[in-house]
Amino acid sequence: MKLDIDYLIENLTLEEKAGLCSGADFWHTKSVERLGIPAVMVSDGPHGLRKQVDSEFHPDEHRSVKAVCYPAGSALACSFDRSLMQKVGEYLGEEARAENIHTLLGPAINIKRSPLCGRNFEYLSEDPYLAGELSASYVKGVQSKNVGVSVKHYAANNQEYKRMSVDAIVDERTLREIYLKAFEITIKKSNPWTLMCAYNKLNGTYCSENKKLLTDIPRNEWGYEGIIMTDWGAMNDRVKAIKAGLELEMPSSSGYNDRKIVEAVKNGELDIEILNNTVRKLLEWIELGLNELPEIKNYDKELHHSFSRRVAGECAILLKNNNEILPLKKSGNIAFIGPFAKKPRYQGGGSSHVDAFKVTSAVEAVGDLVANNADLSIIYKAGIEDDGVTRNEALLKDAVEAAKASEAAVLFVGLPDSFEAESYDRDHMDMPDCQNELIEAVAAVQPNTVVVLHKGSPVTMPWKDQVVAILDMYLGGQAVGGAAVDILFGDVNPSGKLAESMPYRLEDTPCYLNFPGDGKKVYYSEGVFVGYRYYDSKRMGVMYPFGHGLSYTKFSIGDIKVSDSLFDGKGTVNVSVKVKNIGNTVGAEVVQLYISPFDELLRIRPLKELKGFEKVYLMPGEERVTSFELDYYSFAYYNVDVNDWHVEPGEYKILVGNSSRNITCEASLELKTSKVPFLYTETTTIKDVFDYGKGHIIMPLIQKYREQNFEDTTPDDEIVKEAMRELSVHNVVSFIKISNEELDQIIENLKKSE
Ligand code: BGC
Repeated sequence: MKLDIDYLIENLTLEEKAGLCSGADFWHTKSVERLGIPAVMVSDGPHGLRKQVDSEFHPDEHRSVKAVCYPAGSALACSFDRSLMQKVGEYLGEEARAENIHTLLGPAINIKRSPLCGRNFEYLSEDPYLAGELSASYVKGVQSKNVGVSVKHYAANNQEYKRMSVDAIVDERTLREIYLKAFEITIKKSNPWTLMCAYNKLNGTYCSENKKLLTDIPRNEWGYEGIIMTDWGAMNDRVKAIKAGLELEMPSSSGYNDRKIVEAVKNGELDIEILNNTVRKLLEWIELGLNELPEIKNYDKELHHSFSRRVAGECAILLKNNNEILPLKKSGNIAFIGPFAKKPRYQGGGSSHVDAFKVTSAVEAVGDLVANNADLSIIYKAGIEDDGVTRNEALLKDAVEAAKASEAAVLFVGLPDSFEAESYDRDHMDMPDCQNELIEAVAAVQPNTVVVLHKGSPVTMPWKDQVVAILDMYLGGQAVGGAAVDILFGDVNPSGKLAESMPYRLEDTPCYLNFPGDGKKVYYSEGVFVGYRYYDSKRMGVMYPFGHGLSYTKFSIGDIKVSDSLFDGKGTVNVSVKVKNIGNTVGAEVVQLYISPFDELLRIRPLKELKGFEKVYLMPGEERVTSFELDYYSFAYYNVDVNDWHVEPGEYKILVGNSSRNITCEASLELKTSKVPFLYTETTTIKDVFDYGKGHIIMPLIQKYREQNFEDTTPDDEIVKEAMRELSVHNVVSFIKISNEELDQIIENLKKSE
């Protein structure tokens, strides 16, 4: 169905126009029946549908239709798989269509600045390239079903503490390279229908009224064409917001802010053309969802459940597997221990909470295996109370005895619901004490102890060296128990990779001293050094590095070839490597490409940055060539002097491997790009002038310095230049005698040469 937008703008009253700029209730926009403008419904997102059964605000987010809960963003990202993300998007899009949802409120792609952020379980990664690429694929998937997305929370919403008011102080380069990058990639690659602006302030201005954030950068620089809505209640000043480029306020403000728009137009504070333009964009967005595609009345929930089991299997990370204890044999006596074996933790709390239509636990899934394998016997013991936080001596003793009497013990542990959810951050990285004690007690009597983790963010693992294997399911969605059993017994070969570093301790994390700030401001003083950009640059030990994940087979990655040895920044350079399955099991490897500037201190750059990844499925013995296309931006950093991306000329390393700490081959490439243009300022030093090849202009200064400061006038130019290197041109007068006119002339010549 098409809307005659020009006609509508001409015929809508001022009040109706203002009304279209905010919700009718919690989930719907307003209709204008006399002109045939329908109301549309939006719903959370991101990893399943949370369509509420009525339109009011419910702090109890469980009152929604039964739906499928897929692995949360933290798990999905570990797939490192664009096509899987796209498929998940397609499944979600189909479900949204069946429920008449116009726009799904996801993906959530904020960068994991600290492991403590309460919503990290929803977010994808600490790396903006990975987050952006995966998010773009998800968006393509959802939108292919003619359902919109809302990419959130834009921007610098990296903590829950004071999330509605905190002022995130982020320098321009860090903003561009880290906190905006995933949004930029998503917008450029997938054209999302909507963005959701964050609650917080960014550098002093609420995101919802930040013109630079809402208009200058996304629309003028990146070419964004969709609309921007507020996060729920993220409105401060409605008139400022509309001027800044914020189209839709959600949810309803019961007419309060609509009236402000009307008054502002009437008293001349708001140009009617700005409002008309806003309404035009809103109508264009509404129209996008009025599709003529065949109606989807229902979807096959069971099929979607099986798909979510497959997805969870693709995302799980095998962190450790000593003595190749996994996969377990489908015979013998095995103890399954911990309440999560029966009642898995598979999602987080808050607005993303899905009312899952069914949940498969590991105990239930292994029941199917036992039914088909007469020699396999599983015994279940809780070991602690069902709440996951309370000790129980009798249960502990019982579990330890069962573990002792078995051939292996598998512990299903992690963070209980209350430990991580929207609206508050964690204040430590530890699992409940009773769970750590349970693991240690079991490992003390059973050498074949395996830990299966359920949590949305890194935890400390004091027992790491006492157990033989660790399988991290993150929050794997409603079929997580099935997926865990598939991997434990070898029906699925794990291929997930960590989308975030796992530090040993909270104190090791880059923003430890500046998270979550003083309640008013939070300074992102670690700059671009987030996650592995920090740990790797500091050559610091981590428990498990970014990109890490084991498999039941082995791979070799090598024979790197770069199409050119010089690159002038135009077009692309091709890098290829050979990846081979050198083990006996079919499996998938994620080939990761990092760029490292040769002199990392030159521009204060991270030691390495991810710029390419591919997941490759290989039969035993099979070998394939994987290639990557690198362009100018693969080597660029954001230069605040020129307000643009810039590639410093020089030598760069191309590193390829299967984690940020396991680089198996590398090549170097000479970048023949131009330097940042020379710009004379009062901080320009003698050395800067020579570095830019303009030394001839200031040779008179060198000569004077030599004559006036060295008794012996023989030292060569190099020695004199070194002695003067840190002097600013404009204040050499403090160190040499020179006439005002002569210095002015030199400065004039420098300016002319810019
Ligand atoms: C959350 C959003 C969510 C919205 C609607 C907000 O509190 O921050 O992520 O989409 O509520 O439920």
